[in-house]
Amino acid sequence: MTAEAFDAVDVIAAKRDGRALRKEQIDWVIDAYTRGVVAEEQMAALAMAIFINDMDPSEIADWTQAMIASGERMDFSSLSRPTSDKHSTGGVGDKITLPLAPLVAVFDVAVPQLSGRGLGHTGGTLDKLESIPGWQAGLSNDEILDQLEDIGAVICAAGTGLAPADKKLYALRDITSTVDCIPLIASSIMSKKIAEGTSGLVLDVKVGSGAFMKDLDKAGQLARTMVDLGKSAGVRTSALLTDMSTPLGLTVGNALEVRESLEVLAGGGPADVVDLTVALAEEMLRLAGRTDVDVRAALTDGRAMDRWNAMIRAQNGDPAAALPVAEHTEVVTASETGVLTKLDALSIGVASWRLGAGRARKEDPVQDVAGIELHAKPGQNVSAGQPLMTLHTATPERFARAVESLETAVEIGGDTASVPESIVFEKIS
Ligand code: URA
Repeated sequence: MTAEAFDAVDVIAAKRDGRALRKEQIDWVIDAYTRGVVAEEQMAALAMAIFINDMDPSEIADWTQAMIASGERMDFSSLSRPTSDKHSTGGVGDKITLPLAPLVAVFDVAVPQLSGRGLGHTGGTLDKLESIPGWQAGLSNDEILDQLEDIGAVICAAGTGLAPADKKLYALRDITSTVDCIPLIASSIMSKKIAEGTSGLVLDVKVGSGAFMKDLDKAGQLARTMVDLGKSAGVRTSALLTDMSTPLGLTVGNALEVRESLEVLAGGGPADVVDLTVALAEEMLRLAGRTDVDVRAALTDGRAMDRWNAMIRAQNGDPAAALPVAEHTEVVTASETGVLTKLDALSIGVASWRLGAGRARKEDPVQDVAGIELHAKPGQNVSAGQPLMTLHTATPERFARAVESLETAVEIGGDTASVPESIVFEKIS
């Protein structure tokens, strides 16, 4: 038996007592955890000590590098075009990846979107795409490279080989109340994105009730931490801080969000979804050196839709097939007349999840058809009795619990609502 370089108890005690961990300690603890030598309860104690006592920038950088080193790294350097990717910290109705990837590909920049499934109240990109008949999420590394060379965009499941330490640690954080911690979120996201091998990365850091970070100050700190990690690993990185106090667009739920993404790709769709798609595309293109381009034109003239169709077909999907529709719907109406001042992202995300659009455990199935259509957004006038939203599900016994979570979602009153002027609050680069 080889002797271990450190003792987990000493590493935990150092962080518990507020000391910075040394690089050798971090390398060892991540490697030993991945090998199963550091036990789950020891890593849980260490994660809690980090949660309470924080980490300094060099510890966060070392922690991120150690997680990258726990698995494989992808390499896109053989492609004939630059790569640029986007990562969202997660929000309600956040379907932006769907129109964004083919839109950026129009301008000869490759988008490798290695995505995940949803957990909790935010939906996963793969769950949305899986509502398209025939579409397959799983691709080999060679298939990813071929599709990036031929079409310029791929959205597929991230292989299990990227940052396996994060996979274990994220599952542990989920059950030990240690998710909501800037060093752990930043290192978790950036280890996967750096291992993915993209040369440019735009982070969409959500702010508001439906996001991890409820206020601008915290979101800014998270964004700055991630941008610095990306840059020091040689990835051109920037972040947009964007509004997640209310859902994005007018749909929440898998097939419903695909439908709305198709509207955007056809040159229409809700203004907030279009504006955010365009802002993120421009930033991804800027990082790849393409500055003099008319991004909106590619949505209205059909070029982005052509890329979408090619991207879906390449993964066995039928872009012309009808999307599934729920058998059961229930309408929620306005209780009074006035200005809609609040439509809370978190409550609506939870309601959609309870209707069947999301999962409580990794292995749960999701319903393609479940979700919520919104008929009004904050700032609009509504009349008593007017439909505010339509709930969709395949299993009507879910309506009651979904409606319960909507009890405090809506506020109507006053003459005006404080609606942000722009979906993008700030850019950090
Ligand atoms: N997403 C991740 O991948 N990791 C986190 O810690 C939080 C969100």
